[in-house]
Parts: sequence; C-alpha cells; structure tokens
Amino acid sequence: MSSTFSDSPPTSADSLSFTAENVAAREEGDFVVYQMGAKSFRLDKAKARARLAGKRVINGLRSAELNVLPLKYHEAYRIYKQMKANHWEPDVIDMTRDSQQWNTGALSPKERWIIEMGVGYFSAAEGIVGDSVLHVIEDNLTAAELKHASLRHIAEESIHMDSLLHIIGSLNIDLDEVTAKFSDIPSVQRKNAFITRHMPELKMGIDLTQTANKQKFAKAIFGITQVMEGTQFYALFAMILSLHRQNKMTGIGQMFQYTLRDESNHIELGRYILTQLIAENPDIWTPEFRAELVEFMREGVELEKEFVRDCLPEDGVGMTQADFLTYVEYNADRRLAGLDLPALSGVKTNPFAWLDEVIFLRKEKNFFETRVTEYQTSGSLKNTAEDDLI
Ligand SMILES: [Fe+2]
Ligand SMILES: [Fe+2]
Repeated sequence: MSSTFSDSPPTSADSLSFTAENVAAREEGDFVVYQMGAKSFRLDKAKARARLAGKRVINGLRSAELNVLPLKYHEAYRIYKQMKANHWEPDVIDMTRDSQQWNTGALSPKERWIIEMGVGYFSAAEGIVGDSVLHVIEDNLTAAELKHASLRHIAEESIHMDSLLHIIGSLNIDLDEVTAKFSDIPSVQRKNAFITRHMPELKMGIDLTQTANKQKFAKAIFGITQVMEGTQFYALFAMILSLHRQNKMTGIGQMFQYTLRDESNHIELGRYILTQLIAENPDIWTPEFRAELVEFMREGVELEKEFVRDCLPEDGVGMTQADFLTYVEYNADRRLAGLDLPALSGVKTNPFAWLDEVIFLRKEKNFFETRVTEYQTSGSLKNTAEDDLI
C-alpha cells in the first residue's frame, strides 16, 4: 500500500456531482432542482460546494463535524467497512486447550514468558492506544466520517482489552502478579513513556491553526498508528503466532490473528488521516518536520529492540532473536515508506513471510464463517455515488 503524496502534497480536490441515478434532478443555472412527486426542492450548488469544502480534517465547519454528508473522505468509510468485516468477539473463542497446556506444564519457561509478556504489555498498550485515539485524535477531527472510523478504531481497542481479560480468566493467571511484574520491566516502561510523553498537552486542546501545533497533532497520529501500532506491536505478535504455528496456545494465537488484522486496518486509517491532514495543511510537511518523524521512529525502533531482547533473551522455542530484531526494522521502514519518508535500515525482506498470510487470508479464517453467518449484512450504500448525497 503506497501513499498518494510526496514532498509536495497535492491539494484536496473538492469535486461535486449532481448526476445521481434514480433521482429526478435537473440543473437550472446555479441551482439543482429535485422533483419528488408534487414537491420540488431547489438546492444552491454554490452553498453545497462550500459545505463540502468546509469539511476538513481539522479546523472544519462545525456542521461537518456532526453530519456525515456530504461524504468527502470516502477512503475512511471504506476502511471502516474493512474494519467491520473483521469483527470478532473474544469470549466465544475456545480456550480449553490453552488452559490445559498452561496448567499442566506443557509449556517451557521461555514459552510461558512470551505469553506473559504478551498479556502484560498489551494490557497497558491497548488502553494507551484507545485513550489516545479518543482524546488526542478523534477529539480534534472535524469531519464526521473520519470521527466515525476513529470511533470504530477505539471500539476495537476495547475488544483487544476484552481479549486479554478473556485470556487471563481462562488461564487463571494471577492478575495482580502480572500487573506488578510488568510495571517493573524497564523496557515496557520506556516504550509506554516514549509514546505518551506528548499526549497530555494535546489532550488539553491546542490551537490547531498554528503550524507548530498542527505538527504536534500530526506527530501524535504518526506515533500512535505508525510507530506504536505499526512497529512496536509486531514482534510480540509474531512470537505468539509462532507458538500458534507450533500448536501451542492456539486460542490465544487465534485472538492475536484477529487483533493483528485489526491493527493493519488501524495503521491504514492512521496513514490516511495523516495524508489528508498534510494535503490540506502543506505547512506541516517541512523538511525539518519530516526529519523529526524519522527520528521519532528511530527512537521507537531502539526501544522496541530492547523490548524484543527482554521477550526473547536468547534463541529457542523455534525462534531466533535476530529475526525479530530484523522484523522490527522491516516494519519501521514499511511505515516510513507509506508516508514517503526515507528508510532507516533498508531491510526489504520480511523474515516472517508466513505472517503476511496470517494477516491477509481474510476469507479462509473469517470469524463469522465458522459461526453465525446471519451477522453479515450487506452494505446498503454499496452502489451509491456518495458525492451525490448532499
Ligand atoms: Fe489493539
Ligand atoms: Fe490498534
């Protein structure tokens, strides 16, 4: 997936069409007239264009914040539907086998450690993402469809938190012990502090007409969706899914598969919001700011490598530490490339090609295919030319 802007962001094209099918409409000069039975409605095209133009990622019209129409950011709606297609519920995933393996000594200490790190790290990280997307990103967006997709993102973080509680409950892990253990691991503390250090100021509400503040906002989106979700989550995901491949803790593995697919959508949504923000506010995208983002990612990668060394202190259980360190670099470069930012390491090959299959074989492992198919509903706006719905 490549981005659509480069060093010189394109201006956003505010196109407006009045040629909807199945609607009796005719143009009369600056007006379009809709005929519905005995009634006709004359709509001012200039006003409609102004409403569309007034819908912006930030600093948009208040009405655009509340009204999803006219739909301007179509891609956000598409990603929303993509997120919805991956809907899943943790508590229906069978954990019997996991509980058996966990409580009968079937796992080695290294394998148990990876599972504990997974539960310990993500129990805080999911909360950090959900809270930041709500209070830092969503709160500042002024286009209803962007807010709508972000709210789905936040809801999915709640599902991920729920999955961790389902794991803890099923395995009978001592919650207090896990909490105490993880609050003391320096690499976890450093990762969390690194990503949240800019958040308090943004949560207070800042003047987003100022370039420096817009850059802070852009950096927060980048930090949450590209550095944290896009880079700092993946090595531990890969470790747990590697256990899953070896038929160990398969219930947890299944949940992490679904989570990983959710994360790939969150990364895509974050990148889309960021690219639209920059297209509308080219003053953000200075060479200095681009360098600042790359530096931010560099720091995130270093912290993540330290964390990987804590999760897998030495090779074993079918895993090689060096592969995970390479994987961190590979993911960081992918996120940077998605925003036309220069690579940090130049790693071009995914050391875990099998993981891509896990993420993208959506149909083979669709949550509802093996469950209640009636949940799947058809998209009612499927064939609508949304620009016409003003
Ligand atoms: Fe998550
Ligand atoms: Fe996420």
